[in-house]
Amino acid sequence: MDPMTPLKIGIVGARGTSTILGFRSLPNVEVVAICDLHEGLLREQSERLQIPHTYRVFEDMLESDIDAVVVSTPMQLHVQQSIQALEAGKHVLCEVTAGVTLEELWWLIETVERSGKVYMMAENYCYIPQNQVIRRMVEQGVFGEVYFGEGEYIHNIRNLAQYNNRRLAGDTADETRSSWRKFWQLGRRGNFYPTHSLGPVMQWFQGDRIESVSCFGSGWHTGSGEFRQEDTTLTICRMASGKLIKLRLDCLSNRPHNLRYYSLQGTLGCYEAARGLGDQPKIYIRSEADPTAKLEWRPLADYFDDYLPERYKQATEQQKASGHWGGDFFLVHDFVEAVRSGAKPAIDVYDACEWTAVAMLSELSAANGGRPLDMPDFRKNWRDVSEQSIRI
Ligand SMILES: NC(=O)c1ccc[n+]([C@@H]2O[C@H](COP(=O)([O-])OP(=O)(O)OC[C@H]3O[C@@H](n4cnc5c(N)ncnc54)[C@H](O)[C@@H]3O)[C@@H](O)[C@H]2O)c1
Repeated sequence: MDPMTPLKIGIVGARGTSTILGFRSLPNVEVVAICDLHEGLLREQSERLQIPHTYRVFEDMLESDIDAVVVSTPMQLHVQQSIQALEAGKHVLCEVTAGVTLEELWWLIETVERSGKVYMMAENYCYIPQNQVIRRMVEQGVFGEVYFGEGEYIHNIRNLAQYNNRRLAGDTADETRSSWRKFWQLGRRGNFYPTHSLGPVMQWFQGDRIESVSCFGSGWHTGSGEFRQEDTTLTICRMASGKLIKLRLDCLSNRPHNLRYYSLQGTLGCYEAARGLGDQPKIYIRSEADPTAKLEWRPLADYFDDYLPERYKQATEQQKASGHWGGDFFLVHDFVEAVRSGAKPAIDVYDACEWTAVAMLSELSAANGGRPLDMPDFRKNWRDVSEQSIRI
């Protein structure tokens, strides 16, 4: 697509506006439409963000001349709306996770392949500056051979199970109205939200794929056990190479949030993100150039000059102000680049489906005593991987 031709964006799910600053800081990109079933919120957001066209019905927005859709509705609508958008000839940037069932992930892949349009999953945690620094360090061999990684998403969302705790313009108080999160997140076993923790670590594992998934839950101890989600889950992803990634999800325990804890171990050293109380991200590396050098933790900040990607260093104040610790701008930039150039998007549909499928496999595994379950190879045709169907 010619970079001089304006790229017109429509957003479905009026809360999901974290991409707007990113789009607006790019030349020839316009956010022209927003869609939400909730009329009050739709009006409020369109006025606040000065988006000219509003729609309550998604299909109506798809009939307009937008080029791309940002899908930012509840998770259980992601595949359905992505497929509708692709079939209407639009490119798609979809919020996490890609979907909620294994079968629909195959429908998504088939539609992306058939459409020839760009589909990218908006896994913004891959774009957090610290995670980008680690990625460059891995690529340049600083950790040696990487063989173990961790990601944790610790975020008490108990209060999001009902809508009445959220401000929705024009809402009347309704104490009992359950939100989608009560069912599609807290209503499920296993790690229902793996991609924030997993995405960056998968990028550090550079092309390895997940072969199997096992998940154990801690049981129900906090609160009155009103959710099927256990207080904490641990998920082990065993890679095709035999290496390991460990994920912790905890959305119910009484403790401070930590949405972006990661660690990485390689043959030459390791990385640990901050845990809290003054802790900071840190690196412990054996220098190959000077094996006698004293080994000690060093702040990750010491490595920013050498390893932070240039575009992060050059970022304007407006770009840095985009959401999620300054990463959202670069995600949007990569999406627009893929649309304009036709190149593979940074987080394509195969990455999206593999990372997302950890949710479904971990759910089945947790319900079956932690039994390892094979990850389908989404890069193959589904008929060729029917032997890999889930066996319990
Ligand atoms: N990447 C991140 O860091 C991050 C952070 C928060 C949420 N999310 C993701 O963003 C998505 C939305 O989360 P949220 O917290 O904004 O949810 P939300 O429930 O607050 O908002 C969803 C919006 O979608 C609208 N909607 C629902 N069905 C619709 C339909 N058929 N057509 C049009 N509009 C419809 C609702 O009216 C509501 O305004 C989820 O997938 C969530 O996982 C990602």
